[in-house]
Amino acid sequence: MSHDVKALESKYVVQTYRRTPIVLVRGTGVRVFDEDGREYLDLLAGIGVGALGHGHEGLARAIAEQSREMIHCSNLFFHPLQGQVAERLAKLSGLSRAFFCNSGAEAVEACLKFARRYWYTQRNANRTEIVAMEGAFHGRTYGALSVTWDEHYRAPFAPLLPNITWVPMNDAAKLRAAVSERTAAIILEPIQGEGGVRPISQEFANAVNEVKARTGALLIADEVQCGLGRTGYPFYFQKLGLQPDLVSVGKALAAGVPMGAALVKEEIAAALSFGDHGTTFGGNLLACRAALVCLDEISATLMDHVKTVGAHLERQLRALQSKHPAIVDVRGAGLMWGLELNMDAAPVHEAAIRQGVLVNRTAVKVIRLLPPLMITKADLDRALGMLDAAFSEVLAGAGVAN
Ligand SMILES: Cc1ncc(COP(=O)(O)O)c(C=O)c1O
Repeated sequence: MSHDVKALESKYVVQTYRRTPIVLVRGTGVRVFDEDGREYLDLLAGIGVGALGHGHEGLARAIAEQSREMIHCSNLFFHPLQGQVAERLAKLSGLSRAFFCNSGAEAVEACLKFARRYWYTQRNANRTEIVAMEGAFHGRTYGALSVTWDEHYRAPFAPLLPNITWVPMNDAAKLRAAVSERTAAIILEPIQGEGGVRPISQEFANAVNEVKARTGALLIADEVQCGLGRTGYPFYFQKLGLQPDLVSVGKALAAGVPMGAALVKEEIAAALSFGDHGTTFGGNLLACRAALVCLDEISATLMDHVKTVGAHLERQLRALQSKHPAIVDVRGAGLMWGLELNMDAAPVHEAAIRQGVLVNRTAVKVIRLLPPLMITKADLDRALGMLDAAFSEVLAGAGVAN
């Protein structure tokens, strides 16, 4: 790895990221290349961002054209593209309006504020509690951090938002006990991402619908990671039959141009007034133009493709599990999968990168796969061959029977 890159980064960049020591300089499709020209198959897509893969011609052309016309004009004026992106999101999600921002955490932050604003507008000052899930990750701004489970992220920044009640994921009885007429909103990821790729069970989803009907609590579905076609559905809440009042999206929305959005039902939108929330960059022309390209591809062809290759990936991952008993669980949907190991996943993560495949370690014991949505079966097979070799290398070294 180039000494200059590392030296500059470690001298001038705030050290909040533990980086894998490779320097990536370009990519094409599912392949990325480091500064020495070494090729990697990218099964991570910038943590679920690069839905269209790297170097996408249509996206590059649209961004180039838009940057010549106008990149940004602020939300003090109309521009032609926000309404078009909002309309596509409304059609995909069934929620009627969008608020645009720049990241997943901001989308969550907007959802939390809008939920509280809704109850304030209803003159219901008692409804300020939020019910959140153990294992949840919603981002690192103060509101989003307050509903993020990991104590390690939260403790140094206390005090956070008050009145958060934690419920173990998929524990319907605890959910029923936690949600009351003081609950402003329940927030959940239909599939927890950073928490180790843990889908919500159908039984738990049914319980969410039931407590929502009983108490009137709002539901915020955080689809920043699992939404926008990643599971083969526009949103995973739809697969579960959940009826969120607010949905946060980010990551894949503009295929790598930073963009997030809070999608809301009409009743929530009606509770908001001018000035209640805002952002300088949110929904600027460049991000919207990229989002139009991305949403059109997701809607036209990618979701069907994800269903097909996702089923293939699941079969291959289960075959990998039967070969390597260190893999104790295989969880996910579409092109969002986690392999839980009976050990720290760090050595497998490192070996995978040595083999030439980019994957991620999350929740200590989980290897997570979030490939670009256009990946082919052939590339998946090639990448899984490398992952298989990585498991063999590590488990043989550790003296674990294979
Ligand atoms: C479910 C979920 N919500 C929110 C976030 C925060 O998004 P961002 O990192 O864009 O702020 C993430 C990021 O991983 C996420 O997975």
